[in-house]
Amino acid sequence: MKRVPIKLKVNGQAYVFDAVPENKTLLSLIRDDIGLTGTKEGCAEGDCGACTVLLNGKTVDSCLVLAVEADGGEVLTIEGLSRDGNLHPIQQAFVDEGSVQCGYCIPGMIMSTYGLLQENPSPTDAEIKKGLEGNICRCTGYVRILNAVHKASEMMAKESK
Ligand code: FES
Ligand code: FES
Repeated sequence: MKRVPIKLKVNGQAYVFDAVPENKTLLSLIRDDIGLTGTKEGCAEGDCGACTVLLNGKTVDSCLVLAVEADGGEVLTIEGLSRDGNLHPIQQAFVDEGSVQCGYCIPGMIMSTYGLLQENPSPTDAEIKKGLEGNICRCTGYVRILNAVHKASEMMAKESK
């Protein structure tokens, strides 16, 4: 397998890799090489959303993106959301609304919520369902997740005033 050098920023920190196999996924680079294990691997086929991160401001399934495709890019993972040791409002809203059961889907849910609220700060129920349709949760039935997204939207609106 050919190896190539890549540079990228993850959560604001610069990383340089001299020889990344061309077939390595961004998910594997994040978890195995950088050691940020908050991003989860579920299906590894683009169906579950557990591996969602932001790449250059857009949500992606990191299991479907090759690390070389992220060369020169900026990645945001769940570890990059907290500020000064405090949970991001989206994380806090998921906790407050009791939206977390086993937790496996939650980093991906939260990153998709982050992406959604960047584009649409005050989404309707239907817009939230559409925005999170790529994220599967086997535990919660989604109602509390929906509530958490609304709460996060309100919290972020208050913060920006
Ligand atoms: S692990 Fe990437 S979409 Fe399921
Ligand atoms: S909380 Fe268990 S899969 Fe969503």
